[in-house]
Parts: sequence; structure tokens; C-alpha cells
Amino acid sequence: MRILMVASEAAPYAKTGGLADVIGALPAALAAQGETVAVAMPYYRAVEQQLAAIPRVAESVEIWMGAFPRVVHIRQLVERGVTWYFVESPDLYDRGELYNTSAGDYPDNHIRFAVLSHAALAVVRRLFRPDVIHCHDWQAALVAPLARRAFATDPTFFGVKLLFTIHNLGYQGIFPPAILADLGLPPDLFRPDVMEFLGNLNLMKGAIACSDAISTVSPTYAREIQTPELGFGLDGLLRLRSRVLHGILNGVDYGEWSPETDRYIAVSYSAADLSGKRACKRDLLAEFGLPHEDLERPLLGLVSRFVPQKGFDLVGEVAERIAAEDLALVALGTGAPEYERLFRELASGHPDKVAVRLAYDNALAHKIEAGADIFLMPSRYEPCGLNQIYSLRYGTVPVVRATGGLDDTIDTETGFKFREYSGSALLETLRAALAAYPDKKRWSEMMQKGMARDHSWSASAREYRALYRQLGG
Ligand code: ADP
Ligand code: GLC
Repeated sequence: MRILMVASEAAPYAKTGGLADVIGALPAALAAQGETVAVAMPYYRAVEQQLAAIPRVAESVEIWMGAFPRVVHIRQLVERGVTWYFVESPDLYDRGELYNTSAGDYPDNHIRFAVLSHAALAVVRRLFRPDVIHCHDWQAALVAPLARRAFATDPTFFGVKLLFTIHNLGYQGIFPPAILADLGLPPDLFRPDVMEFLGNLNLMKGAIACSDAISTVSPTYAREIQTPELGFGLDGLLRLRSRVLHGILNGVDYGEWSPETDRYIAVSYSAADLSGKRACKRDLLAEFGLPHEDLERPLLGLVSRFVPQKGFDLVGEVAERIAAEDLALVALGTGAPEYERLFRELASGHPDKVAVRLAYDNALAHKIEAGADIFLMPSRYEPCGLNQIYSLRYGTVPVVRATGGLDDTIDTETGFKFREYSGSALLETLRAALAAYPDKKRWSEMMQKGMARDHSWSASAREYRALYRQLGG
């Protein structure tokens, strides 16, 4: 089948989080199973820096969102069996970051990603006619209302099926109603059964309402988003569409995330020979400037966007009590100033045990997966979560909150989890892990079990293919 994915980030070209890992790997996994796959995404500055001079395959494509057209170009790259269409529009995408600066979101994000959706439809008209358009998250959400409503009479889209994947319901692309005019959308989209949401325009709501099927990135999250607690106001609509709502767990690109072949870590290792892991721990401590004595203590690792979703208020509640345990802790992340402060203060209060790097650093993320003994992920909600699955492969035992994909991927054989969203539940579970750590036999059994789990993309890709076929493409 022919699949066109539309998304706002993909590893290694442009990444802020797990969405990029998925778009960097799933298309190639589908191609390896015989599907014909293309991806449309923005030609960001970061992409241009990596792929200078890939050719333009469409010049001066006009996008009409009002009285005057915007002009974009499409650049193409074929890699690992996947055709990439990069949408070039320097005034929208030639910027330092993908979505925001430290001052906040770019004020024209609605335009930037409406143009991406329009450009994806231009790709369908001119370059790649798919059986299924598979859109990801709010940045690609406008495709569905455009194809099904605004351009409902355009024969290009007759018979083309639409799948929308929710990677995070916490980001819906909600904008004041005035942007309806900026985007040149027909007023009848601004209705409660399409994109109107509490008086605002909600792009993700439009995709959920207009797509033929919806999926999200774990079976548990597919259930949770139908509840008021985790439905972010869209649980009613999602319940209404529950017959076409699927949960497909993300896979892992083991080409990138395996201790046998990881080019970022000090010494490679495997389940059969774990000796290199201790060298990775030593290297990690040195990298963070922590003393050599910490080699004997259980080392906790944390890699995350610093946002409320990830459960940092729980960490804050019990931070001092965590630091009082016989452990060391390294954290890597950036985001909300209050969480950056939390880790900075914890590190300065316990310089021999706690260290933080406030940065986005892919190499260091790999070093933490390899060098830590325990990976901490106490998320308030987690659609899938990839770091805990990476941790399994690196023999780094996850301590997680039982929510979404964390609940689906971690069990008592491979890690420790707690359900109640409280600092004390986190602390209690962490203490259980710390108590298990000295029992070398039990601990290495747990590591081995985790390392043996197979979350490669091939199984998830097969599930997506079954869904594409079910859609009747
Ligand atoms: P989310 O997509 O919600 O951020 P995931 O666990 O699905 O969570 O994926 C996060 C991805 O982003 C992982 O590949 C992780 O290594 C990476 N990541 C997050 N924060 C950082 C950081 N500060 N530096 C490097 N990589 C990071
Ligand atoms: C989102 C979610 C994360 C998921 C990722 C990839 O960013 O927060 O849980 O793993 O998307 O699907």
C-alpha cells in the first residue's frame, strides 16, 4: 500500500521528543515490510544544516489560505526505502527551534503548521498519491478537516483514507477563533461537531472528528483518553469514536538504541557480557563530575522534557528524602524554570550525589541509558514513553508510574511501578528498588529479563499495516 505520513518532527533531522523517534523509524519499518511510504515535514533550519542541497522536486507551490497565496517549495530525499518530502518556506521554518523560544511558542505556529497540512495535500495532488494519509499530532491535524470538508469535492482525495495518531492529547493546537480567518478556513468548520472547542478553534479535535480512524501509542492510553481524568476535554468525542480508536504500542529503533552498537557510550556491552556497563557507569559519573565513590551506590538516571506531564511535582515533593537515600542521581532535561530550579537546587545541596545537566543532548541521553542502574519515570500521564523501553534494552531497571505506555511496557519482572499519583508512592517504590539492588542475583535477573524483551518496530509496523488494510485502502 501507499502511505503518506505527515508530522512535525523526525529523527535524526529534527527532534524535541518521542514523536521524532517514531517518525524516524516507523516509515522505514513499514517500507522494510513492503509498503511504499513517504513522509511530509517542514524543511527546518536543522534539516537544511544536515541535508544541504537535496533537490527541489516541486517549485513555487501556491498555498491559498486567504486572498493571497503563500509559496513553498518541496525538497525530496530517499533514504532507507522512504521518500521524504520537506516543505521549504524560510520565513516559517528557517528558525533556531521547532516550536518555541524561551519566551514561549512562536506566535505564528497556527500558520506554520496549517501550511504543513496544505503542503501535504499538495504533495498528494502532485507527487505522491497515497491509499492512506497518516497524520501525527496537532501540527498535522488540519489535513483531515481540509481533505474531508474544505476540499470535499476535490477528486484527488476520493477514496484516500485518513488515519490520525495522537501522540499526546495534552497538546491539541488550540487557538482563538480569530485565526479562522488567518487560515482561510470555511466558517462551517467552526462548529462543536468539528473544530469549535469552548469558544476556541481546536485543530486536533478536527482531526479526531474527520479522520476515518484514530490511533494512539499504547492500548492503555487509548482507554485512558476516553475518561474525563485524562481526556483533556475531548474524552466525550473520543468515546463517540471509540469503535475506530486503536492503541498501538510504539516500537524502538534498536539500530539507535542498543548497548551492543551504541556509538555514544564508553564501552559496549550485551546481555551475555554486562561488564561494559560498569565502565559506562564510571564514564557517566565522570561526565557529571560525581565522585568515584558513587560507583558503589545505585545510580538513578532521568532524561526528560521538564514539563508537568512527566511527574516532576512528585519528585519535588520527596526530593530531599530521595537525596537522603544511599544513591546517586543524574538528570538531563530542559523546560519549565521551576523544574530546572528543583534539580539545580538539589544538585547544589548534594554535590557529591546529585548532578543535573540543563540541556538537550542526545549523546548524553544515550550515556545515561547505559550508565545508570535505575531509570526514573514517574509521569502523571504517558501516552507511550520511549525512555523506559530504551532502559529495558540497556539493563537499566525502570521505576515508573503505572500509566499509559509505562503500564503496558513495565511489569514486576522487569521493573518497579506505582499507581497512586503521590510523592509517598513514588518514594516507597523507589525504596523497594533500592532494597532489591544489593541482591546481585535478583537484580541481574531483572536486568536480563528487561534486556530480552523485544519492542522492535516490526511488530508495531504489522499492526499499523493491518489497520491500513482495515481502512480499506
Ligand atoms: P516525550 O515524547 O513525551 O518527550 P518519550 O519518552 O516518548 O517522551 O521520548 C523522549 C525522547 O526524547 C527520547 O528519545 C529521549 O531520549 C529524548 N529526550 C528528551 N529530553 C532530552 C534531552 N534533554 N536531551 C536529549 N534527549 C532527550
Ligand atoms: C509523545 C508522548 C510520549 C510518546 C511519544 C511518541 O511525546 O508524550 O509518551 O512516547 O509521543 O509516541
